[in-house]
Amino acid sequence: MSTILKLEDLCYGYIDGGYKREILKSLSYEFEEGTFYTILGPSGSGKTTLLSLMAGLDTQESGKIYFQGEDIDQIGLYQYRRNKIGVVFQSYNLISYLTARENLELAMTETDNPIPGSHQDLAYALLKMVGIASTKADRLVSHLSGGEQQRVAIARAIAGNVDLIFADEPTGNLDTATEEEIIRLFQMLAEEYGKTIIAVTHSNEVSKLSDRRIFLRGGKLEDLH
Ligand SMILES: Nc1ncnc2c1ncn2[C@@H]1O[C@H](COP(=O)(O)OP(=O)(O)OP(=O)(O)O)[C@@H](O)[C@H]1O
Ligand SMILES: [Mg+2]
Repeated sequence: MSTILKLEDLCYGYIDGGYKREILKSLSYEFEEGTFYTILGPSGSGKTTLLSLMAGLDTQESGKIYFQGEDIDQIGLYQYRRNKIGVVFQSYNLISYLTARENLELAMTETDNPIPGSHQDLAYALLKMVGIASTKADRLVSHLSGGEQQRVAIARAIAGNVDLIFADEPTGNLDTATEEEIIRLFQMLAEEYGKTIIAVTHSNEVSKLSDRRIFLRGGKLEDLH
C-alpha cells in the first residue's frame, strides 16, 4: 500500500497569555491509502489543531505535509482543499435550505476535477451508497435526522472526487446505534472504495472499529495496538 499523506516534523503552538505553548512537537506520521484511521487523545491535546493543518485550513510553524509525495504548500492550500480532500464536521455543516441532492450537486461544482457524468445522477448514486434513498435525497436536509444528515455530509465530502477525508468527532452528536452505522460507512468507504479516512474521536468504541488507532500525546502521534 502506498502513502497518501506524510507529516514530517510538524511544530505548532499558540500564544496563551503572552506565553507560547507548543501543541505539536516535531510530529511525524505516514497515512496509508485505503485505511480508516482514528485519532484519540485527551481534550486539549491538539487533535482539532492537527486536523486543521492536515486539511490545509491553517499552516504549521515548521515541518512539511506531503500529499501523494507533493508538498501541500507547492500544490497550494486552496487547490489542495478544493481538489484533494473532503472534511466532515461534528455539526454536519450542510446548507439547510437545500435538499440532500442539491448539497452534493453544489459540492460537485466546487472542484476542478469532478466525477464525470450527470451531477444529478451522481448525487443520487452517492446518496444511495451512504444509505439515503431517493425519496429522502429530495428532502431539505433540515428535515432529515442527525444520522441522516451526517450520511449526507459524508457523501458530500467524497462528491468532490477525493480519496482523503478528515472528520472531527463525526459521531459526537449521534446516539450509539447511529454512531455504529456511520463507522460502518467509513469502513466500507476504506475497504470497497479505497478511501482514506482520518477521524478524531473521543469514543473508544468507535476507535476499536477502525483499521488503525493513533493516540495524540505530548505533541506526537503514537500507534495503539
Ligand atoms: N486559536 C487558538 N488560540 C489559542 N489557543 C488555542 C486556539 N485553538 C486551540 N487552542 C488551544 O490549543 C490546545 C489544543 O486545542 P485543540 O482544539 O486542538 O484540542 P483537541 O484535542 O481538539 O481538544 P477536544 O478534544 O476538546 O476537541 C487547547 O489547549 C486549546 O485551548
Ligand atoms: Mg477538538
